[in-house]
Amino acid sequence: MYDMAHEVADRAARSAGEVLKQKFGNVHHIGKKGEIDLVTEAEIAAEKIILEMLSKHFPKDNIQSEEAGVQDLSSNRTWIVDPLDGTTNFAHGFPFFAVSIGLEIDAEIVLGIVYNPVMDEFFEARKGQGAFLNDRPIHVSNARNMSDSLLATGFPYDIRERSNRIFERFRTMVLSSRGVRRAGSAAIDMCYVASGRLDGLWEENLKPWDTAAGVVIVSEAGGRLSTCDGQAFTPSQQSLVACTPMIHGELVKALNG
Ligand code: IPD
Ligand code: CA
Repeated sequence: MYDMAHEVADRAARSAGEVLKQKFGNVHHIGKKGEIDLVTEAEIAAEKIILEMLSKHFPKDNIQSEEAGVQDLSSNRTWIVDPLDGTTNFAHGFPFFAVSIGLEIDAEIVLGIVYNPVMDEFFEARKGQGAFLNDRPIHVSNARNMSDSLLATGFPYDIRERSNRIFERFRTMVLSSRGVRRAGSAAIDMCYVASGRLDGLWEENLKPWDTAAGVVIVSEAGGRLSTCDGQAFTPSQQSLVACTPMIHGELVKALNG
């Protein structure tokens, strides 16, 4: 199912990834959307490639993309695109970033692709068909409790305005787990949960393009998604927990303790 959409999204992600890889380590111009929120010419170029391919093959679909904004054609199908998740990493030559493309149909994400071009890791899932990394099936880990879990998080761009609660939670989670990683790409973090490299992830203030593809990849890998207070998660929610099902209750409790 969604074969045509899958094929086009696959090609778009790989082409955009190729552009990012070529420009990686060679960043000439870094723009600022906020004090610490960057934008690079590479992601603008990558976004152009993706949007042109999607518009060419699916001219009636809506598209929501991080830099270009929303193209609303009143369709029940919306492509949700982050041409470069991990912009700060990219700008600093830290090789942990990805292209993320999700397709939402009737308010449900049915297809997700996250491609890390430096590691050549292609994560993908289609609803009902499992999740894959470079064509091999992936599953969440078997972790049963937080003290044996490796977790991840991210910090929002407005952290300077509201750091207290974020660091309170961070402290709690560091002290109740085996460790917490903060690598700088929410989309890849979600795929690492899906593939069992991480046991859980929480973050606040995310945008739909950070999480759309990851939602179906985590679900199809057997993971559990919610907001930080345990409510149902959709990409329009800003707060996210993604984890192996066995630790979900403990993780949400710790976040709100
Ligand atoms: C960011 C990354 C980061 C997360 C931020 C996101 P960007 O996306 O996913 O890990 O902590 O909240 O905005 O700006 O690199 O595309
Ligand atoms: Ca992003």
